[in-house]
Amino acid sequence: MKIAPFEIEQYFDRYEFTTPYLLCASDCETMSVAELLQMADVSLTDFADMRLGYTEAQGSQELRTAVAQTYKSVQPDHVVILTAPEEGIYLTMRALLEPGDHVIVLTPAYNSLLNLAQHVSGNVSQWEIQPTESGWQIDLAAFEQLVTPATKLIIVNFPHNPTGFLPTTDEFQTIIDIAQRHNTWLFCDEMYRGLELNGTPTLVSAVDQYQRAIVLSGLSKTHGLPGLRSGWLVVRDATLRAQLQNWKHYTTICPPAPSEFLALAALHVQDKLAARNRRLIEHNLQAANEFFGRWPKLFTWRPPQAGSVALVGLNLPSATDYCHVLAQNSGVLLLPSSYLGYGDQHVRVGFGRANFVDNLAKYEKYLLSV
Ligand SMILES: Cc1ncc(COP(=O)(O)O)c(C=O)c1O
Repeated sequence: MKIAPFEIEQYFDRYEFTTPYLLCASDCETMSVAELLQMADVSLTDFADMRLGYTEAQGSQELRTAVAQTYKSVQPDHVVILTAPEEGIYLTMRALLEPGDHVIVLTPAYNSLLNLAQHVSGNVSQWEIQPTESGWQIDLAAFEQLVTPATKLIIVNFPHNPTGFLPTTDEFQTIIDIAQRHNTWLFCDEMYRGLELNGTPTLVSAVDQYQRAIVLSGLSKTHGLPGLRSGWLVVRDATLRAQLQNWKHYTTICPPAPSEFLALAALHVQDKLAARNRRLIEHNLQAANEFFGRWPKLFTWRPPQAGSVALVGLNLPSATDYCHVLAQNSGVLLLPSSYLGYGDQHVRVGFGRANFVDNLAKYEKYLLSV
């Protein structure tokens, strides 16, 4: 059976490396290997001496221990190191779902969260996040009404890509309570955790609150190291973990040795990496606030509470047409919401890159010229 197109990645595949002024990246500013090693106080010689053999399938004990320490009550055995965060979505849907299993997905969603669940189970309900005047909200009563006795899995992503929404502690607790009451699995994509803005506290990870939570995280977004392709799943249930690992033998077998080495270095300085990117996002958001303040007729601005992206209303007939023409005529890249399965009147904007302010100025110059 054919799977739906991965529209976000197809769009980035077309434009990311040919369009100079990216304004919609979801990752944060990256660094060189030398910079990372220097920050983590690891010598370049140690990296050069690393042997390029196969690695442990579940990930090295050392790396799993470092990951486990980033949670309150997680053991190294609960952690499965991936060859990319994306792999964790694939493995979970394959290992957990059978045709007909009911799945609820918070939407709009990163394509694979929705498409892989739909592909494997064929029985997905979308729980759509709602816009407010100045932000986004979730309707918990509507969510509970979607749950049926056949519901096996609930998929959420907080901080949320693409809206930048973060639930309150109480809202998050209610989601977990509902999952618990109905004994469903809860897949919580926490790729942007640690990027809470303006002093907003970080939510306690779902895996520290619920036995049947499956948490996805990694170093691509908050830590700005997407080229490492380093991520992990945290799964307390040993049976599910074994099933996931069996699927992993069919995808990548074990994590790449250089990524494991560098991921360990990155975890030693994870607070510094996250703080650096939070500062950058907050700085870029000031410029964005001013920019959107100058263009109120064209855009509806809902600033993010957390994460590196926001979904901005575009008061034109088709965001898709607009973004393609914009990329071709000005070299500025925005992501239309059609590729996120959310109508055609929003664009995703990303605030994690160091050239954001300059690229925004290029965009404004273009807007003034047309
Ligand atoms: C919510 C979410 N989950 C997972 C991923 C996958 O991360 P990676 O590209 O590092 O595999 C992304 C990437 O954009 C994402 O936004």
